[in-house]
Amino acid sequence: MAREIVLGQSDRGRVAVDGLIRHFGSVRAVDGVSLAAESGEFLALLGPSGSGKSTILMCIAGFETPDAGRVTVGDRDVTAIPPQRRELGMVFQRYTLFPHMSVLDNIAFPLKMRGVARAEREARAREALATVRLTEYGARMPAQLSGGQQQRVALARAIVYRPPVLLMDEPLSALDKALREEMQLEIKHLQRELGVTVVFVTHDQTEALTMADRIAVLDHGRLCQVGTPRDLYEAPQDPFVARFIGETNMLDGRALGDAASGGRIGVRLPGDVVVEATAMAPLARDAAVVIAVRPERLRAGGDGPVKGRMKEAIYAGVATTYVLEMPGGATVRLRSATGANAFDLADGGTVSLAWSPEDARAFPAAP
Ligand SMILES: Nc1ncnc2c1ncn2[C@@H]1O[C@H](COP(=O)(O)OP(=O)(O)OP(=O)(O)O)[C@@H](O)[C@H]1O
Ligand SMILES: [Mg+2]
Repeated sequence: MAREIVLGQSDRGRVAVDGLIRHFGSVRAVDGVSLAAESGEFLALLGPSGSGKSTILMCIAGFETPDAGRVTVGDRDVTAIPPQRRELGMVFQRYTLFPHMSVLDNIAFPLKMRGVARAEREARAREALATVRLTEYGARMPAQLSGGQQQRVALARAIVYRPPVLLMDEPLSALDKALREEMQLEIKHLQRELGVTVVFVTHDQTEALTMADRIAVLDHGRLCQVGTPRDLYEAPQDPFVARFIGETNMLDGRALGDAASGGRIGVRLPGDVVVEATAMAPLARDAAVVIAVRPERLRAGGDGPVKGRMKEAIYAGVATTYVLEMPGGATVRLRSATGANAFDLADGGTVSLAWSPEDARAFPAAP
């Protein structure tokens, strides 16, 4: 414990990458990423397959060497320091337990490597085992455990020497849904209890939204946006983020005037439908734009100019999703919570659609 007091600066658990670049041949796996997890923060790296999440994590861990950029842990530049001297705990997708060692020996192993005396390492391994609620399982061999139990042992082994930072790469993806959801909450609680910084890689947005304090969204090796789950869902700054997090209607159109970023803009959609949105970047008259608007932000009813023809109603208990065709042929989805102004419309019927301009984000269309 004395160790924690001596090294107890508040940013001991801060981990950052700065200008990180890692190419594999012509593949830009990580293409200039700067990002920090603050001490005690749960940061998720979220993105589709191949977006560079694992490569970033491996650069932080020291198993990959960046072509450019820096990695810092606390106030130490660790870019040139080997993995075992970075003081980071790690949990991977596959459990990577030593099959020939008991559960307790597996957990004690990192302490043995650090020269901790036998009695103390056993005591600390038992403590870590209790933390992951496997007190009774110390004498078992890994093969005698379920997948979830093995992953808990891997977690215990990662926290046993109390690293200030835990790195996890899809640690739950091999588990079934129910167990995965249970472990998500367990890891989250454990992280809070220990005050440890976690950098957690996942391609599952629900997992990221459930667990993380902040989420970094990656695409093709670039950082699109980093923010709280609420920021990303309610204020996406990038069309990729709008599309990737949750469900979004994306409507192509043309700017009717000029607008500064944050300004109100009129947009003409196909079928000569004119709507209002908020510009997310400076937009020039006639520029091709794409409007992102969430299904639950669309309203039906009234006698507004935008008409939608009902194609399908999908009832899902908690809400109903209506698929509507706009005059130009684009389809939009409108979601209405059960019990809230539900409307009843036969297939083929038309209804007026509306949204508040602040709920519709206009981005420049990709060139
Ligand atoms: N050792 C390697 N050699 C060559 N290319 C690699 C290597 N490691 C990663 N890549 C490439 O770099 C890109 C990013 O890979 P990375 O593993 O970081 O993606 P990821 O976001 O973790 O994806 P996933 O969700 O599938 O795990 C991919 O195009 C991948 O094929
Ligand atoms: Mg990966």
